[in-house]
Amino acid sequence: MQNGSTNNPIQKIAVFASGAGSNARKLIEYFGTEAFPKHPSIQVGLIVSNKKTAGVLNIAAEFQVPTLIIEKQPFFEGDGYVGALKDVQINFIVLAGFLWKIPESLIKAFPQKIVNIHPALLPKYGGKGMYGNFVHEAVIANKETESGITIHYVDEHYDHGAHLFQATCPVLPEDTAETLANRIHSLEHRHYAEEVEKAISKT
Ligand code: GRF
Repeated sequence: MQNGSTNNPIQKIAVFASGAGSNARKLIEYFGTEAFPKHPSIQVGLIVSNKKTAGVLNIAAEFQVPTLIIEKQPFFEGDGYVGALKDVQINFIVLAGFLWKIPESLIKAFPQKIVNIHPALLPKYGGKGMYGNFVHEAVIANKETESGITIHYVDEHYDHGAHLFQATCPVLPEDTAETLANRIHSLEHRHYAEEVEKAISKT
C-alpha cells in the first residue's frame, strides 16, 4: 500500500471494534491521536465499527478520533473499505473486539499489517462463534486451570494467523465467565498496545 512514511513519519492505526472498546481506549491512551498526540511515531487515526451504537464510538468522540461506520455489502463484496482507509493514510489495522471476518481484499492490501487479540490461548477456544463470554464459558465448562490471551496476525480464517504473543492467567474453581473475563481484560490492557508497537516496528 501507499505508505505515508515517505513524507509523513507518523504511522496511523485504524482500530476496528464492535463493542465497548476498553482495548481501543488503552490503545488511544498509549499511542495518542492527532488531537492528543503522545507516541513519537504512531497515532490512532481512525475508529472503524460495524455498529452505530457501539460504546467504542463514545471513546472516539472523547479523543476526537474520526470514525467510519462500515456496512456489510461494501465490506464483503466491495473493496473492503481499502480505498477509504488509504484515503486517510492508514498504515496498520488493529482489531479490538471486532466480530466480522476480515475480507481477502483488506488482508491483501495490508499484508502482515492486521492484528487481533483473542481472549484465550489459541489454537484452543477460537473460531467462528468463539467470542466474548462464549469463550470463557467453554474454558470453565472444560475445567481448564489456565487461560489467557493471544495476539496474532489476521488471515482469511477466524483466529488463525501467526501468533505474536501469548500471556496466561489462572482459571479459579469459583470463576464465572464474568470474573474470568475481568482477569483476561486486565491482561489485554497490560499487553496489547506494546505488542502492537512491536508489530508496527517490524513493518
Ligand atoms: C476482548 O476481550 C478481546 O479479546 C475480544 O473482544 C473483547 C473486546 O473488549 N476480541 P473491549 O470492547 O475492548 O472491551
